[in-house]
Amino acid sequence: EAIPFEFIRSEKEQPAITTFRGPTPAIPVVDLSNPDEESVLRAVVKASEEWGIFQVVNHGIPTELIRRLQEVGRKFFELPSSEKESVAKPVDSKDIEGYGTKLQKDLEGKKAWVDHLFHRIWPPSCVNYRFWPKNPPEYREVNEEYALHVKKLSETLLGFLSEGLGLRRDALKEGLGGETAEYMMKINYYPPCPRPDLALGVPAHTDLSGITLLVPNEVPGLQVFKDDHWFDAEYIPSAVIVHIGDQILRLSNGKYKNVLHRTTVDKEKTRMSWPVFLEPHREMIVGPLPELTGDDNPPKYKPFAF
Ligand code: OGA
Ligand code: NI
Repeated sequence: EAIPFEFIRSEKEQPAITTFRGPTPAIPVVDLSNPDEESVLRAVVKASEEWGIFQVVNHGIPTELIRRLQEVGRKFFELPSSEKESVAKPVDSKDIEGYGTKLQKDLEGKKAWVDHLFHRIWPPSCVNYRFWPKNPPEYREVNEEYALHVKKLSETLLGFLSEGLGLRRDALKEGLGGETAEYMMKINYYPPCPRPDLALGVPAHTDLSGITLLVPNEVPGLQVFKDDHWFDAEYIPSAVIVHIGDQILRLSNGKYKNVLHRTTVDKEKTRMSWPVFLEPHREMIVGPLPELTGDDNPPKYKPFAF
């Protein structure tokens, strides 16, 4: 029943104390099969301005492919540690790719109740198969297929967001580096935790990405900070959860919000999630798109190399 003290969050963070238990507003849901494209666009834009997060349904990624992605990821994490260590992040690595289980303590000296695996899935020139599990054998094929779908869906969403800024459809894609932008797969593995009231999976953060497209397993746990409260995100089977990250906040000069979020853990069940972070390459300079700023609209952010 006890957990090591490094996992016990301060009272400012403990989910049992800080989760809002009144009526919970639902994260916006956008149906991409709606033939009225104008209303889809408006829904994506409104959700990104007010929440910085929304769920998309009928998004075109086959349910069966998502099921296979989850299956190969789960099979990898269920291997013995020694096998998972074969794709571990090297100790001297300056990059984040690889399997990690000994998470560093955060600023308060606390640990997160989660293991993870990071590896790039697109563009092919950035893929390093050294960090892709060899087991199960279908891992590679499934992730390669998923990469194509996730890229297509990301570009559709970036197109809506660009038009919402009054710009051409490819403006935000170009702002993230066009075809040089990278898609980083992460798998989060949250084992059952005897004290889910005291520990957190991933602590509060905004994503450093442009946008993040995430599929969870069936165990809820994502929480979103809005109007000064932490709310549980509703679980919708086969939906893709879209987070606006720091780079779209910057490119849009603050019009689209980078959502603050965190995850809780479960007493009995293993939670897993598969976020894909769409990010500029590391040398890319990111700042407010020049078309959006002028004398009446000064830039709110300085450009910097990602
Ligand atoms: C993350 C994250 C949320 C989740 O890994 O950046 O926010 O639902 N994960 O696991
Ligand atoms: Ni996140």
